[in-house]
Amino acid sequence: MKHFLKLLDCTTEEIIELLDLADQLKKYVKEGKEHHFLKGKTLGMIFEKSSTRTRVSFETGMYQLGGHALFISSKDAQIGRGEPTQDTARVLSRYLDGIMIRTFEQEEVETLANFGSIPIINGLTDFCHPCQIMADLQTIREHKGKLDGLRMCYIGDGNNMANSLIVGGLKVGMTVSVACPEGYRPDSKVLDFAKEYGDKFLLTDDPKVAAKNADVMITDVWASMGQEEEQAIRAKAFDGYQINDELMTLTNDGCMVQHCLPAHRGEEITAEVFEAHADEIFDEAENRLHAQKAILVKLMG
Ligand code: CP
Ligand code: NVA
Repeated sequence: MKHFLKLLDCTTEEIIELLDLADQLKKYVKEGKEHHFLKGKTLGMIFEKSSTRTRVSFETGMYQLGGHALFISSKDAQIGRGEPTQDTARVLSRYLDGIMIRTFEQEEVETLANFGSIPIINGLTDFCHPCQIMADLQTIREHKGKLDGLRMCYIGDGNNMANSLIVGGLKVGMTVSVACPEGYRPDSKVLDFAKEYGDKFLLTDDPKVAAKNADVMITDVWASMGQEEEQAIRAKAFDGYQINDELMTLTNDGCMVQHCLPAHRGEEITAEVFEAHADEIFDEAENRLHAQKAILVKLMG
């Protein structure tokens, strides 16, 4: 593995190996055991969108690994004023040992990887959010003891989260069902990939059909970063695409709920379901730290 750009690039073995390493690193934190595997290394973190979890977990993760993280806001850096990504990649490769980037176009992340000479990590694009899905899989495996054979259900916008959950879930042996309204379906590349899994993948516009016998229910905001102006139109389109008590009655006993956060109570999830599953959701947020440290060690160690 040279980069971590999207789960479509990863093998099942690579994903499982990262999850095992993430569990090990989490144990070191809990035991207070020093694990300076990235001593003297610097990670640049380019943000063209807002973040709480991604920024704090990557920065803390690098510190715990004995390295250093540098926050680079596109508001201040030349990349935000139009300096070509190809040049930014080549310049930053002379200073840093790795780059994590959160941006709009997946293309930009791929360009950084093509022109730079250091590992690139995708911290969210409009296309995917692979680091988040590693944390989700780690959390589901912790709670359920396995991944293979479980049924994952995603309700809502066919966005970056949906794209990565479909790929990640199918690659680790889960059955994946997705309910999205017409016009808000996952990316066609992802749907083509999912087709190869036959009846292990289901796409419907009916949340009730998707939720049936689920072991884990997942949702995300109706309007992602960059879509703020579509909020009203989207609120109409996604009416009914909500994880609520009624939908939860269709799922398997002990069904978990995951949400990448930030959450909008009363929109994609009710406050009741959110609070009933808050421990699982905040375990998921915590696991961003451990899962990303595994990615950092694998790529930069
Ligand atoms: N889930 C997630 O990526 O959170 P942030 O936007 O706060 O980084
Ligand atoms: N789909 C959301 C995820 C945020 C972590 C967004 O892109 O804004």
